[in-house]
Amino acid sequence: MASQDTTSALHGAVLGLGMIGRHHARLLQAGPRVRFAGAVDPGGDRHGVLRDPATLHASIPALLAAGPVDFAIVAVPTEEHLPAVRELAAAGVHVLVEKPLAATEEDALALIAAVEDAGLHGAVGHVERCNPALLELRRRLNAGEIGRPFLIATERIGPFPDRIRDVGVVKDLATHDLDLVRWLGGAAVAQVAAQTQHRMGRAHEDLLLATGRLGNDVAFNCVVDWLSPTKVRRTRVLGEGGMFVADTLNADLTFYANAATPIEWDTAQQARGVSEGDMTRFALSRREPLLVEHEAFCDLLLGVDGDGVAVTLQEGLETVRTAEAVLRSARTGTTQSLTPA
Ligand SMILES: NC(=O)c1ccc[n+]([C@@H]2O[C@H](COP(=O)([O-])OP(=O)(O)OC[C@H]3O[C@@H](n4cnc5c(N)ncnc54)[C@H](O)[C@@H]3O)[C@@H](O)[C@H]2O)c1
Repeated sequence: MASQDTTSALHGAVLGLGMIGRHHARLLQAGPRVRFAGAVDPGGDRHGVLRDPATLHASIPALLAAGPVDFAIVAVPTEEHLPAVRELAAAGVHVLVEKPLAATEEDALALIAAVEDAGLHGAVGHVERCNPALLELRRRLNAGEIGRPFLIATERIGPFPDRIRDVGVVKDLATHDLDLVRWLGGAAVAQVAAQTQHRMGRAHEDLLLATGRLGNDVAFNCVVDWLSPTKVRRTRVLGEGGMFVADTLNADLTFYANAATPIEWDTAQQARGVSEGDMTRFALSRREPLLVEHEAFCDLLLGVDGDGVAVTLQEGLETVRTAEAVLRSARTGTTQSLTPA
């Protein structure tokens, strides 16, 4: 595909004006790099986010008939990602698809084929990667600040958002964690063992414990639920030199160093464990993650060298495959091995 003129604004649309789509619509209407091409939601503009009611359309053909559309953000329920992307790809529209890429591996493969066969760009909205705390954590990991990492542990717990009907906590929420562990750890998931629980009486699971290792032997552990009476979003990376803790609710990053001073206490010396060193809380510039995601996608479309945080469709597929292995593991009580795609 030829790269586009970087001086002209891209025409961007959004499909679905629900919990996340409304934020996409807000940013598309405000951004200097994008001309808002309109929104599609047969349910209307329930959150009142559109500045001009004439930009609301009931279908993709109606949106396309109203003017040029270079790209669309697909923020419809997960099971509807594939049909929506097929329709957009057939019209030559690039897509930024909300996470998870699709409800099943089969759908994800078909979605990628639709985009690639049409010669279009696609990316996945794993927006946690754009959180300032995690961007900074990854930058410091890659700079070798804690040496070799050996454990990534995530915790994503809180009350149930009573709107998700089509998938359970693994595909809806844990896909954030399964994407993060491979992105931070630098290798794909090689093995995973998981347990789930169904406490709310829904068809899908509402609690997950997943333990595994990446292809480079970094271990990971994810605790995810819709049952806890308080919201926690925490990612911990433990390495040779200490531990990073990212709190993505508040976009905070803290570093706990192993003490560099020799320990003169016999018992502790014999144990050869780590001891507490300095603690540093980094001052971060806190940009809205969804805006960072939009910018990375626009960079991709315009062929501009950005910070490269756009998540590829293949990475999105890998996360869906890993989520399916997690569910298989929980169902069968077996450890699942994943072969690289
Ligand atoms: N990145 C994140 O952090 C994040 C957060 C929430 C949701 N999501 C993802 O975004 C997607 C949407 O989730 P949500 O929570 O906003 O759902 P939601 O139910 O709040 O909103 C979905 C909206 O899509 C509309 N819709 C349904 N079918 C449509 C179609 N064919 N065309 C256009 N509009 C249609 C509905 O009327 C509704 O307004 C899901 O895939 C979800 O996993 C991602």
